[in-house]
Amino acid sequence: MTNNNPIGVFDSGIGGTSIWKAIHDLLPNEKTIYLADSKNAPYGQKSKEEIVALSKKNVDFLLEMNCKTIVVACNTATTNAIRELRADYDIPFIGIEPAIKPAANNSKTQVIGILATKGTLNSELFNKTAEMFQNTTIIEQVGYGLVQLIEDGNLNSPEMTQLLESYLKPMIDANIDYLVLGCSHYPYLIPQIKKILPDHIQIIDSGEAVARQTQNILREKVGFSDAKNSIPEFYVNSNPTVLKSILDHKYDVIQKDF
Ligand code: DGL
Repeated sequence: MTNNNPIGVFDSGIGGTSIWKAIHDLLPNEKTIYLADSKNAPYGQKSKEEIVALSKKNVDFLLEMNCKTIVVACNTATTNAIRELRADYDIPFIGIEPAIKPAANNSKTQVIGILATKGTLNSELFNKTAEMFQNTTIIEQVGYGLVQLIEDGNLNSPEMTQLLESYLKPMIDANIDYLVLGCSHYPYLIPQIKKILPDHIQIIDSGEAVARQTQNILREKVGFSDAKNSIPEFYVNSNPTVLKSILDHKYDVIQKDF
């Protein structure tokens, strides 16, 4: 089955590009359209109703561009809105959730840490998953302020280091051996996080798993593109400077109101 329509990917801002990169690396012939709803970031402090409404707005934009499937490259939007999206739209959705399972199953100390937004950690979906791992102590930490600093291009600021230290030190003291990054913005913090964590603590994010799941959906449900090396498109509804720089200035970014 061939299908040359694009794969849509959205996030509250630029963080989902960490997921987009994994998809683009695995499926370079697929046309991708990335939507950064930076005007409304961060989603992490919003109510479920607001997150559902914003997610639907993003989906409507991507469907106008004929996307064959949509990747919700945002843990906050997935854990709060994917059920509603699946109920309301007739295309397959791929979501991203904190990777508790591989961390809990491989942990030797039976203590793992999760850094995510308030919206993700408070969601029913996240809590149902966490309940399945009763033998593991899960230390949950809201990453207050991190997304905003990333969106503002302040990745390497002293303020970022200070926040990360305050969130990670208690986890280190509690003897975690896995840290789950439960927000698609956070993989951009890995170099900084590695400076704080001792070497034996593994960092897990879900980018590659989402890319493989996207490949499965194309194989089973919507079809692969037969184009060669498609050029991705990027849309943002606020200043495009930070998105451009996180993409290493390799791609055009279109600023548009949506
Ligand atoms: N990148 C998002 C996530 O994975 C949302 C961050 C936010 O907007 O608060 O949760």
